[in-house]
Amino acid sequence: MKKVILIVLVTCLSCNVSKQNNTDSISQNTTIEVSEKVGIERRVDSVLKLMTLEEKIGQMNQYNGFWDATGPVPKSNEQAALKYEHLKKGLVGSMLNVKGVKQVKALQKIAVEETRLGIPLIFGFDVIHGYKTIGPIPLAESASWDLEAIKKAAQNAAEETAASGINWTFAPMVDISRDARWGRVMEGAGEDSYLGAKIGVARVQGFQGNDLASPKTIAACAKHFAAYGFAEAGRDYNTADIGTSTLYNVVFPPFKAVTDAGVRTFMNAFNLLNDVPATGNEFLQRDVLKKDWGFDGFIVSDWGSIAEMIPHGYAQNIKHAAELAANAGSDMDMESSAYVSELANLVREGKVDEKHIDDAAQRILRVKFELGLFDDPYLYCNEEHEKEVVGKQAFHEDALDIAKKSIVLLKNENNLLPLKKDNQKIALIGALANDKTSPLGSWRIAGEDGTAVSVLEGLQQYKGNTLTYAKGADVVTPDSKITFINELKINETDTSGFSEAIAVAKSSDVVVMVLGEHGYQTGEGRSRTNIDLPGVQQELLEAVYKVNKNIVLVLTNGRPLAITWADENIPAIVEAWQLGVQSGNAIAQVLYGDYNPSGKLPMTFPRSVGQIPIYYNYKNTGRPNGENSDVVFWSHYSDESNKPLYPFGHGLSYTTFAYENLKIKTLSAREIKVSVEVINTGTVKGKEVLQLYIQDTFASVARPVKELKGFRMVELKPNERQTIDFVLTEKELGFYTNKGEFIVEPGAFKVYVGGSSETTLSSEFTLE
Ligand code: BGC
Repeated sequence: MKKVILIVLVTCLSCNVSKQNNTDSISQNTTIEVSEKVGIERRVDSVLKLMTLEEKIGQMNQYNGFWDATGPVPKSNEQAALKYEHLKKGLVGSMLNVKGVKQVKALQKIAVEETRLGIPLIFGFDVIHGYKTIGPIPLAESASWDLEAIKKAAQNAAEETAASGINWTFAPMVDISRDARWGRVMEGAGEDSYLGAKIGVARVQGFQGNDLASPKTIAACAKHFAAYGFAEAGRDYNTADIGTSTLYNVVFPPFKAVTDAGVRTFMNAFNLLNDVPATGNEFLQRDVLKKDWGFDGFIVSDWGSIAEMIPHGYAQNIKHAAELAANAGSDMDMESSAYVSELANLVREGKVDEKHIDDAAQRILRVKFELGLFDDPYLYCNEEHEKEVVGKQAFHEDALDIAKKSIVLLKNENNLLPLKKDNQKIALIGALANDKTSPLGSWRIAGEDGTAVSVLEGLQQYKGNTLTYAKGADVVTPDSKITFINELKINETDTSGFSEAIAVAKSSDVVVMVLGEHGYQTGEGRSRTNIDLPGVQQELLEAVYKVNKNIVLVLTNGRPLAITWADENIPAIVEAWQLGVQSGNAIAQVLYGDYNPSGKLPMTFPRSVGQIPIYYNYKNTGRPNGENSDVVFWSHYSDESNKPLYPFGHGLSYTTFAYENLKIKTLSAREIKVSVEVINTGTVKGKEVLQLYIQDTFASVARPVKELKGFRMVELKPNERQTIDFVLTEKELGFYTNKGEFIVEPGAFKVYVGGSSETTLSSEFTLE
């Protein structure tokens, strides 16, 4: 009876709010937003008052989907049976990895109808690059620098996810990383905080929209707070040791930006940050995020990360781990079962203040209210709607659009690209060219194997040429398990297909070689110490090169690769990442020039793995110069240049661009206008991403040699020119001190504008 009253009460309050929402006036909207917030807070409090301590703690407990909810209830599996008991008692607030309306609905029904208060569950899922319609991996999408397209991709993913019953994604990952050995670079936006912040915000806006209670939007989750991308030696889950300046100036900005953009949840991280696990880190969660940044959503732990504080040597046992995490402000326990088993006793013993439990439960309930789950717990559970929406054609069209935009032309000599459309003999070589699963990348839990368009299928659509395919070599061994959880076995020995590939190459005009990483070679738990072409692929490339030098190398990979030999020898190189379901179509359109490539690298490509961490916004040493000297006492390597293979921001087009007339105007004491003319100097229409960098040449702490502070995409016809203005304000000109304070210092600045971070077109200004 109480349950019915509770739901009626919250429904009526929300009806009033949504009726008022039909107004256009901005001021009225603001009033409504405020009153909506007040309304939600009132309703959260009214629910909280009805809850026992155990029920509040139940909200803080998240379980992985543990049995087929539409089948018989678990009896034999002890763990599943216990979880089921917890669910019925209202001791579960959220579940993850439950797929599809049928399953979600069955579990929601238990929460709503069988628990004392009927509080709905929130369902989380890793929608990282699409739900069913898998798009380019996030690192690839970031190479588009196209915020609208990125937002649209997230919007589509949200619509498809919501139609499948799920209302919360564990994305975007906004971890900055400078280490290509780390497998999870595929999931982020690369090495730069400015670009990372813009992309993070676009993704959050796409997922969440303006109305979280719409059946087309889902809650987003900024992860992993914090410094997970700084894992030592690029080994996943490893320790991060960084100073305050890097934390505030590099790691935090994307997290802060998405907080300001209203992201509703955060996930903490597996790693130690300066000796304290992020999960038990009060400074990160309570001081910075909740207090300084005013975040009022909730923080979920990473999978089992509360319990993992024990092997870290930070918690003595599971009870201690629960105490540390709850006191540090970690609101929801993903799969450690630490809160549900320990927190009530910890409160009774006075080790965890009940106000922390109230605060966490409030935060979780708040997001559930915002998602509309109290108004209609089955809001996301319409099977007809699911059938209509999941995998719909419009999603595929948008997936193709962003896949094309994600491709980066790294090198193009002798005008080998675009390929001629007629009378050419084209050889297509590489197992990845005929792979319909690998392009789906790593995070594709709801995606289906074999649903990507392969490069072979993409190229076959161009009928004017003769296309002959030869595998050359497998990337993984035939007995390798190809799953999200297993280690892949790379083919290091089988070269039996080389002779066929060589023969095909010999008799062709142009050879397209699709080489790189398997889709499961990057992602979680997939760090590498060698970031070259895996297995026998380098050998294959060199063998083919011996018989035909007209090679277009198409790379499919989830991280920057060290491909120095290829850069020195192969005339055309295309970075095609893992592009999702439309992969082969996108690649074919770029190779044939039906789409003029416009992508730019969001992460530096090293010449050698030994240069890592290598990134464009480094700080100068006291001995930066010495290239032409034979004396060793300058900062360098004896066996490799300091330079990257391809710098951050690099990417070519089938046309060329020039930059002229860089002008600087002081608008006010803290506002500088920078304008520059960009000209299409080639023969075809093309898009360019103009990048603006600054250098604070002398400051109270050393500043990077260059920092991205603006970018703009322009499309120009041959000979067309356009003037682009940027305005630099305090936000762009300042930085965080070692004490975490944001300051702007007077003095000299340099400005660079161009088509990559290596641009030399520059000017100067002085801030008074
Ligand atoms: C990952 C998270 C992910 C979670 C849930 C963890 O292992 O680190 O990024 O969201 O699992 O699947």
